[in-house]
Amino acid sequence: MSNSEIEARKTVLQIKDLRKSFGDNHVLNGFNMELYQGENLVIMGKSGSGKSVMIKCLVGLLEADSGTIRVMDKDITKLDQSAMDILRADIGFLFQGSALYDSMTVRENLEFPLRRHSKKFGDEMNTEQMVHEALENVGLLNAIDLMPSELSGGMKRRIALARTLILRPKIILYDEPTSGLDPITAKEIILLMQEIQNKYNTSSLIITHDVDCARAISDRMILLIDGVDYAVGTFDQLASDNDPKIKAFFKH
Ligand SMILES: Nc1ncnc2c1ncn2[C@@H]1O[C@H](COP(=O)(O)OP(=O)(O)OP(=O)(O)O)[C@@H](O)[C@H]1O
Ligand SMILES: [Mg+2]
Repeated sequence: MSNSEIEARKTVLQIKDLRKSFGDNHVLNGFNMELYQGENLVIMGKSGSGKSVMIKCLVGLLEADSGTIRVMDKDITKLDQSAMDILRADIGFLFQGSALYDSMTVRENLEFPLRRHSKKFGDEMNTEQMVHEALENVGLLNAIDLMPSELSGGMKRRIALARTLILRPKIILYDEPTSGLDPITAKEIILLMQEIQNKYNTSSLIITHDVDCARAISDRMILLIDGVDYAVGTFDQLASDNDPKIKAFFKH
């Protein structure tokens, strides 16, 4: 996909001048980004650089100090609770480390978001069928009655992905989708993310410090350095940059 093709697209998510500090720990110092319809945008930054803080501001789990966040042309800082709930049903969030509910079976883990966002699907919602389809999408229908403690790390990540997908989000936010997985399992998760992207034409924001993941999946990348969008470009553009701060990410 060429840059001009991407730029001609609709913006589904936009962050402008986002600032967030915890006391005198200034984490985000004016971060900007734009996610276009249908693209995979990777955000890389070293540990502690504020990637999770940024994504949490985006979904309203943290309140930004200042800046604007627009999701599908709506300024989320200006939405009331019910409007925010409706919007949230369109944004899937795959948490860092899966975050399944340990006391619930896989089936119950998947039913949970459906119940919370039942308004989105109305009376026609067929919970059983939706749970089955979501599990089939990640190849784990046979795990439906297992507890999270009975799953491997890779399986947990797939179930978490199924739980995100079940709401048919237009935008998916992935926080470190491959962290803690061996390289082969990580590759399987990346393939799955690509399949989902193709099947549902979602737009994805992927936070990672896995260079292989970034190479495989990104249409564009942003490097989050010193609390700002330090560099923006394709993987190849950034990987061949001579700036030492940028080069540091691509060294193996
Ligand atoms: N709720 C919080 N209260 C206080 N400080 C916080 C809070 N959440 C994050 N921080 C601080 O913000 C900074 C950025 O944290 P964040 O979790 O966003 O890093 P990250 O880039 O996601 O790192 P990693 O790659 O390790 O996941 C850290 O210094 C962290 O201590
Ligand atoms: Mg993080």
